[in-house]
Amino acid sequence: MTPDEFRAAGHELIDWIADRRTEVATRRVLPDVQPGDVAARFPNTPPTETASAAEVLGELEELIATGITEVQHPMHFGWFPSNASLSSILGDIASSGLGSLGISWESSPALTEVEEVVVDWMRQLCGLSDNWHGVIQDTASTACLVAMLAARERATDHAQTRGGLRNLPSALCVYTTAEAHSSVRKGALLAGFGADDIRVIDVDPWTRDMLPAHLAEVMQADVTAGHQPAIVVASAGSTGVTAFDPISEIAAIASIHDAWIHVDAAMAGSAMVLPEMRSRFEGIEEADSISWNPHKWFGTILDCSLMYLRDPQHLIRVMSTNPSYLQSTAAGDATQYRDWGVPLGRRFRALKLWYQLRIDGIASIQDRLRRDLENAQWIADEFAALDDWELVAPVRLQTVCIRHNPNDSLSGADLDAHTLRWVRELNSSGRAFLSPSQLDDQWMVRISVGAESTERSHLERLVVLIRGVAEA
Ligand SMILES: Cc1ncc(COP(=O)(O)O)c(C=O)c1O
Repeated sequence: MTPDEFRAAGHELIDWIADRRTEVATRRVLPDVQPGDVAARFPNTPPTETASAAEVLGELEELIATGITEVQHPMHFGWFPSNASLSSILGDIASSGLGSLGISWESSPALTEVEEVVVDWMRQLCGLSDNWHGVIQDTASTACLVAMLAARERATDHAQTRGGLRNLPSALCVYTTAEAHSSVRKGALLAGFGADDIRVIDVDPWTRDMLPAHLAEVMQADVTAGHQPAIVVASAGSTGVTAFDPISEIAAIASIHDAWIHVDAAMAGSAMVLPEMRSRFEGIEEADSISWNPHKWFGTILDCSLMYLRDPQHLIRVMSTNPSYLQSTAAGDATQYRDWGVPLGRRFRALKLWYQLRIDGIASIQDRLRRDLENAQWIADEFAALDDWELVAPVRLQTVCIRHNPNDSLSGADLDAHTLRWVRELNSSGRAFLSPSQLDDQWMVRISVGAESTERSHLERLVVLIRGVAEA
């Protein structure tokens, strides 16, 4: 493809993207496809003939775009917001268009330095002190794995430089709660911690926040038994019910045992840009690492997960390889982000945040987040006021967890069957999407408010739709 052909095809593609976004609300939220349907639209051998860009765009529209769940839809209330602001998409396109290679400072000085600048702007916007040094990881799962590896090496005085995990004198323990995201357990296992050494700390039965007294007890028992506490992962806004573990109290306990503290604020971290919400994150300065995803509620197109570390030199010692072919004269003065995580090559992800901050501006993002907080509270109040409906968890931010029980007549498997019936009926209608989730082994339904295009009128409509299927 020549640059001129690219220019023409690119204009068409941008027009198509803009049109889709304008019309998003007219489409189904959940696509009308079954497993295998999308793949069956394609030949099972590689194409042997080429196509024009216009033909490919036609196929994109017909074969592919009809098979996506429209998470940019204003009636998308599933999982968590996965906003892809158009400004950040421009940054993503710019990143691809520059085609630069991030394997060292020298391979693209601007890629490294713009990332440093932008993550520091984001630090300031979150009200974090300048003790923190940031990097963009692909996802919060990766950030958690990186924190686990750093914690493992700190707890063992860099055992990797000796026999690794072989012959360690004591078991290394991980502390978290059942509310923590599945990536925490996955990260622990991948980092070499044993399943037997992952401690699930009790939570408050209503808020689901970690109970620090139980953490203290379990850590002490481990030490008495000759084990070594290595890392506590605190959720600041859990996936299920937005639990906020008390970071200050956790830090006071963890520091007695010199355990690493990682704060997983993947979804809720966006709220740190609202000064009035920062009390939810009290104690965060005492952590060793923090991660949160602008690629969720904040609105930066996937993938963009911010990770902040108090002591990046420790991480660099864990991750650094420095092969000769990557050494350069700038080595001593420049940040080498390859030493801050697992991959060598990195994309110019900072451009997505840079575009979004420069074009949308933080004030409009803050206004949108505040709108979503008010909308979540509004819909929570609506359901709380209705007979037969209950809120099964407090509304800490933008997620509202509800359950319907007609005349309080259902329990156990019958209540589950009722909940799953109505939510599946609503989802399969294509008119709205909600994700059910289990709490104490009983299904409930999460209304995760925060799609960029969701206004109060959409929530009003959602109440009608939900009541229509559940109360029928
Ligand atoms: C609290 C929490 N942590 C971690 C994750 C994983 O995020 P990612 O997809 O960026 O790995 C999620 C995803 O929803 C989450 O809600």
